[in-house]
Amino acid sequence: MCGIVGYVGKLNAQNVIISGLEKLEYRGYDSAGIAVIGKDGMNSAKFKGRLSVLAKYLEEHPIEGTIGIGHTRWATHGVPSDENAHPHFNKDKTIAVIHNGIIENYLELKAMLLEKGYEFRSQTDTEVVAHLFDFYYDGDLLQTAFKVENAIRGTYAILAIHQDSPNEFVALRCEAPLVIGYGNGENFVASDIPAVLEYTREVAFLENGEIAHVTANNVTVYNTKKEIVHKKPFTVEWSLDAATKGGYDHFMLKEIHEQPQGIRDTINNRIDGKGYIKLDDIKLTKEEIQKFDKIYIVACGTAYHAGCVGKYAIEKLAKIPVVCDIASEFRYRDPFVDNKTLVILVSQSGETADTLAALREARRKGARILSITNVVGSSIARESDDVFYTWAGPEIAVASTKAYTTQLVAFYMIALTLALAKNTISERTYFMLIDQIKQAADILEEMLKDDTQEKEVAELIKDKNALFYLGRGVDMQTAKEMALKLKEISYIYAESFAAGELKHGPIALIENGTPVIAISTQEPMIEKMVSNIQEVKARGAYVIGIASEGDNLISSVCDKVIYVPKIDDLLAPLISVVPGQLIAYHTTCLKGLDVDKPRNLAKSVTVE
Ligand code: F6R
Repeated sequence: MCGIVGYVGKLNAQNVIISGLEKLEYRGYDSAGIAVIGKDGMNSAKFKGRLSVLAKYLEEHPIEGTIGIGHTRWATHGVPSDENAHPHFNKDKTIAVIHNGIIENYLELKAMLLEKGYEFRSQTDTEVVAHLFDFYYDGDLLQTAFKVENAIRGTYAILAIHQDSPNEFVALRCEAPLVIGYGNGENFVASDIPAVLEYTREVAFLENGEIAHVTANNVTVYNTKKEIVHKKPFTVEWSLDAATKGGYDHFMLKEIHEQPQGIRDTINNRIDGKGYIKLDDIKLTKEEIQKFDKIYIVACGTAYHAGCVGKYAIEKLAKIPVVCDIASEFRYRDPFVDNKTLVILVSQSGETADTLAALREARRKGARILSITNVVGSSIARESDDVFYTWAGPEIAVASTKAYTTQLVAFYMIALTLALAKNTISERTYFMLIDQIKQAADILEEMLKDDTQEKEVAELIKDKNALFYLGRGVDMQTAKEMALKLKEISYIYAESFAAGELKHGPIALIENGTPVIAISTQEPMIEKMVSNIQEVKARGAYVIGIASEGDNLISSVCDKVIYVPKIDDLLAPLISVVPGQLIAYHTTCLKGLDVDKPRNLAKSVTVE
């Protein structure tokens, strides 16, 4: 989704903004632009394509000034083009506006503005905001912002500057994230913390309906009633290095390697002196837990796949029925949710519009809301009753890896907590599983030292048009996640199937040389997997097994096997997904594609 950076202070605004936008590249975008007010008035540049195109242009045609706004656009209304790139301006180019989100009543506003004689240069919804600022402007940018906010409807994070007020900018927020960075003699507003971290660690999030009035020495935040809101900034503990590549070729590879630490950070701080799980941000009492008669897990994409594993863990350990639902479907099918339902939302970014909408629907129906998210203070976290933060650190690559494994850890810990409260688990099993989750981090660290086998598989599949993943039980969920990883970055058509379901249709897709990756870590199902592998081999498939060490049955039927260390069956997805992540990564590198920024995808999907 779009990235936003606003700056006012003493430095060269162009440099601050470009470096801030670079830190937001992970959000996905198709064009970039900037407007800066200098001694000679408003200057701007905007281009379709990578941020580097804009940066190169600015190197050759620098813009002077210490106040400005910059934007990376992910197209919603209007194709990616120079004209549709932000900022958008009023007619005489005294006002510049950037926007993330969608102005839902833009057609109505556009009609009104056209009638008043305004002319439009782009196909975007955002341009109405620039003209609205012009329409309402009475010499006071803040008061104008209040009027604009009153007129627009939809989701937005908006920054606006006016050439006649060269010492201030305004920021408006509704549903799309905006964070204020408090500096010394300079201030920032951006879509996410990494954009400001080079300059300040003191930050605060804007809430829905709030407007920030920003000058070099002051940030004043107002609510919709125009009352001042006293923000309490918090200090960001993680380093900027955590948001940069740190020596790896790609963010995705770095993040795959950060998984052991992510798992440790997620579990270790939540174990008390006696070895029990202590979930600080979850206020659920034993009595409340015992009252739940069902659980819904709702999420999108990879987070949904983590939820599918979470279902197995909760049903097996806590004996509570779980429905796992895709967020964009959940709220349109009148789910059986009431005040005896716990709804668990999973979202790395905490800003996914579909998941947020599902949260609100669950709230409306009276459910207790628990979210699992990686971003402190995100919209989903703020609107939940209870939050489990995955301490994975910022995830920059569009393809989610470390967020997934830490989400799995979150589910195991929640399942264990529910199980203990419901007396459905022995203390022996409880402590054994906690111990094995911790061990998983060490196991992964060892595994990640050698990715030769995954590279070999990447060589084998890189030129294939299609590939299938099979598994049974939780392995089927791992298969889903592996298939998503491969298709989203390598663009190879990849699909996953429950191994036992193949013969009911999908087996028709298998032909001579079709690569099939068969995941088999579930002890009681090994023999069944062997039969399913035989079925595809008999039709010409080339089968790569992912099996637990010590299992000789699978190797006897596969063309190649990647062994993963043995761990409790329920926890196996934590380990077995990693070869799948690495296969996707290496295949994409071999194909020479953009690993971290795959086509058509955005990191944070803030539109429904
Ligand atoms: C896949 C991927 C997406 C996200 C999905 C939800 O690698 O990253 O499928 O998992 O868009 O995003 P969050 O977790 O931020 O809600």
